[in-house]
Amino acid sequence: MAIPERFIEEVVARSDIVDVVSEYVQLTKRSGSNIFGLCPFHSEKTPSFSVSPEKQIYHCFGCGKGGTVISFIMEIENLSFRDAVALLARRAGMELPEEDEDKESTGRRKRLLELNRQAARWFYDNLSRPEGADSVAYIRKRQLTKKTVTAFGLGAAPNQWHMLTDEMIRRGFTQQELVDAGLAKRGKGGGVYDIFRNRLMFPVIDVRGAVIGFSGRILGDGEPKYLNTPDTPVFSKSRNLFALNLAKRSKRGMLILAEGNVDVVMLHQAGFDCAVASLGTSLTPEQARLMKNYTENVVIAYDSDAAGVKAAQRAIGLLEPVGLQVRVLRMEGAKDPDEFIKLRGADAFQILLERSANHVEYRILAAKGKYDMDTDDGRLGFLREATEILAENQSPVEREVYARRVAEMTGVSPEAVINEVDKALRIRSARDRKKQEREVMRPEITAQPAARSIRYDNVASAAAEEGLVRLLVADPALTDSTAGLEPEDFSSPFLGRVFDSIRKRWQEGREITPALIAAVLPPEEASHFTNLCQRPVSIASAREAIGDYIDKIKTEGLKKPGADLLAVREQYRKKKGLGG
Ligand code: UTP
Ligand code: MN
Repeated sequence: MAIPERFIEEVVARSDIVDVVSEYVQLTKRSGSNIFGLCPFHSEKTPSFSVSPEKQIYHCFGCGKGGTVISFIMEIENLSFRDAVALLARRAGMELPEEDEDKESTGRRKRLLELNRQAARWFYDNLSRPEGADSVAYIRKRQLTKKTVTAFGLGAAPNQWHMLTDEMIRRGFTQQELVDAGLAKRGKGGGVYDIFRNRLMFPVIDVRGAVIGFSGRILGDGEPKYLNTPDTPVFSKSRNLFALNLAKRSKRGMLILAEGNVDVVMLHQAGFDCAVASLGTSLTPEQARLMKNYTENVVIAYDSDAAGVKAAQRAIGLLEPVGLQVRVLRMEGAKDPDEFIKLRGADAFQILLERSANHVEYRILAAKGKYDMDTDDGRLGFLREATEILAENQSPVEREVYARRVAEMTGVSPEAVINEVDKALRIRSARDRKKQEREVMRPEITAQPAARSIRYDNVASAAAEEGLVRLLVADPALTDSTAGLEPEDFSSPFLGRVFDSIRKRWQEGREITPALIAAVLPPEEASHFTNLCQRPVSIASAREAIGDYIDKIKTEGLKKPGADLLAVREQYRKKKGLGG
């Protein structure tokens, strides 16, 4: 599974970050030792994306994204760590080492994909057998055509406990493989039974055309309405989108994001062949990036109920930061696209699409819905919220246009609204400026890592740990001044691991650079670590600083519940100059 560390280092060493990033981003401005360009991970007009040729890392001062050449490729190409290393290796003319263990896991994945493929085919074939009759009736009821059924490879899971498992075992698959693929569960007696029963089956097919999982809708009423394949070695519901395999070929120049599988299928049937949906969960950042690989424009067509409106607002917050243009459909008189198309037809949906509000308008209308506009209080509340929304908007023209719209809605003069927006803007920019100043003036300020998994329990200690690690990376020879400090002393296990790795490399006489240390860390740790490394560090009186940091780490460590009482006493004596 794992790629040897040495190989990863070699790949990093042979992939100059400036060369690699330049293939995606125009790096135009030099400032100090960094080169700047427009950030590819969020939309901006002035360059805040910096690359350090010296440290071989990147950092965006706008959105905070940062990392090594590997994380850059992972992010921009939407690849796993492994695939990103493979891409860079190919680019550098290196061969990925083939390990036995690796072949084994590839072999296993292949088997699961083959099992899924055969299961999908079997579900589909059931539609022409007696055990698929209920599904066929249901397909007719939902008005899906034969062509649609074939295009999506829909199928029938019979109302039986063992039909699929028996068939697949007869074909040479094992019980364990059926369980691993998420198609069967182990029963009390040790045997296995089919998970999908009495359901209309929607295969989930990835962009390469492999069947990676299934979503099964109950025929008629009942709970749960949908059953989805759990995450398996070949299926991750947060990293895939339903129907993207078809939508990626669309000529419409956009993706339509719907909530339900049936909505997507119906949209395709009505000619909107660019529709996709997330897979039984709300939209994820990975899915937003995945969409960005195929389009610049997303139209959200979620359900028109309150939950749909809320989900749409959340989705905007994920789609915009990756640089997508987002619009939102307002569907009146129908609960979802499926129902809308059945009631009003494809042409009416096309008109909706053309008129779809951009998200500023959408959010303003959503805000309006919350207030009683017949009362002064209501109008005032709405006005306050609307000015905040407008102040977030980058474009002065749009601000002006919508300020006029808000003025009409509230009966206030346009000038007064524009005035309010300007005020909100000033407050906002003063706040941003202060925040920036704080960060520049006090580079030692400690921010919690973005990733939950490495949150600091003890921020005071973590600040010292970060400072220490930063100094060691800047001048690895300082490692000699850390005798007596152990990774276990760190309040942050993550920083402890970084310390351990620096120390090991120093002892083994290996090179120490931010990029090399980060390359072998999990992505979220790599990102936080390189962010640390891009901040300026002062080498003057570094040895004293190291001593202070170590003291701080040890004192804070003593506050931990269960810290050794004797150690506290010793500390106390040392301070008082009493000695042992
Ligand atoms: P909906 O209930 O809106 O689905 O849930 P739908 O496709 O419009 O279903 P119909 O029209 O009633 O047949 C939206 C999505 O939420 C997930 C599914 O991915 C579904 O498509 N979901 C819903 C589940 O995963 N489990 C459930 O029990 C319900
Ligand atoms: Mn529906």
